Amino acid sequence: MSDRVHTPVMVEECLAALLVAEEGIYLDLTTGAGGHAEAALERAPRARWLGVDRDAEILEIARANLARFGERVELVQARWGDLDRLLDERGIAALDGALLDLGVSSLQLDRAERGFAFSQDGPLDMRLDPRGGEATAAELLERATQEQIATWIRGYGEERFAGRIARAIVEARQRQPLRRTGELARIVEEVVPAPPRGVRRRIHPATRTFQALRIAVNRELEDLEGVLGILRRRIAPGGRLVVLSYHSLEDRIVKRFLRDVERADEFRRVSKKPLRPSEEEIRGNSRSRSAKLRIGERVRPEEVGATRRKRY
Ligand SMILES: C[S@@+](CC[C@H](N)C(=O)[O-])C[C@H]1O[C@@H](n2cnc3c(N)ncnc32)[C@H](O)[C@@H]1O
Repeated sequence: MSDRVHTPVMVEECLAALLVAEEGIYLDLTTGAGGHAEAALERAPRARWLGVDRDAEILEIARANLARFGERVELVQARWGDLDRLLDERGIAALDGALLDLGVSSLQLDRAERGFAFSQDGPLDMRLDPRGGEATAAELLERATQEQIATWIRGYGEERFAGRIARAIVEARQRQPLRRTGELARIVEEVVPAPPRGVRRRIHPATRTFQALRIAVNRELEDLEGVLGILRRRIAPGGRLVVLSYHSLEDRIVKRFLRDVERADEFRRVSKKPLRPSEEEIRGNSRSRSAKLRIGERVRPEEVGATRRKRY
């Protein structure tokens, strides 16, 4: 794999929010290379850590990085949809905390052959779990109607030029099937208009299209809704749900979820506004710039009603 590293985002803030019980059982649903996991296991020497990721390849890196923690850590390649079964099999009824650090790792982005990056030419794949048997981005683009492609790019990429991009994709695939990230990036570049003179482009023109396809390929938003539904039942009273998101679609889902469970008197939001990385962190790690951290705490039985009383 790449020799570049993935720098974990808002580590201090995540650990301060997550580690509420010294001998707690914590679930990391986005283990990646294990950056947050390593920091947490060092900080909480008696905690147990169950690390899940859909990507077997990146989990191998985590395995090496976390080997020194021995039996305190268990790593499992799985989808979030399997969470109930994973916890039941291990006899874990309730968690002291769960961490979600959404999106993809820099290590995944940097590997051209995984097909996530417009900046490097590779197969148009984008599956987080290439062994999972789901359709690749190339297969989705081959089968979908122009309308469907536009809907993905508009909905999951929040791209203004989704209609034009979808039309250009369909025209290109009539000549020959789209197979490479480089081809897709070029098609998008050609149809997205340049910004007015004097205005600098903040992101590459294909950024939003690639984000949209990745979300569609991996059904990321459906999975996120699903896993939040499971965690709603699986976090112990006083336990924490800690979620880092990097774009507004994910953040909206998390925000609404926390609002709804607070209204239902099941969780309370630890702060109403999301936490943001410091300027210093953003300077050192540009990937952190869009991060938003939201924290929920499962209400203890004696507190039920307290959040509502406070509000009225
Ligand atoms: C931003 S990275 C996590 C980085 C990690 N916190 C670290 O410090 O190294 C997100 C990870 O979540 C995984 N992931 C995303 N969606 C998933 C899903 N639905 N099920 C399981 N893992 C998922 C990705 O494969 C990726 O490794």
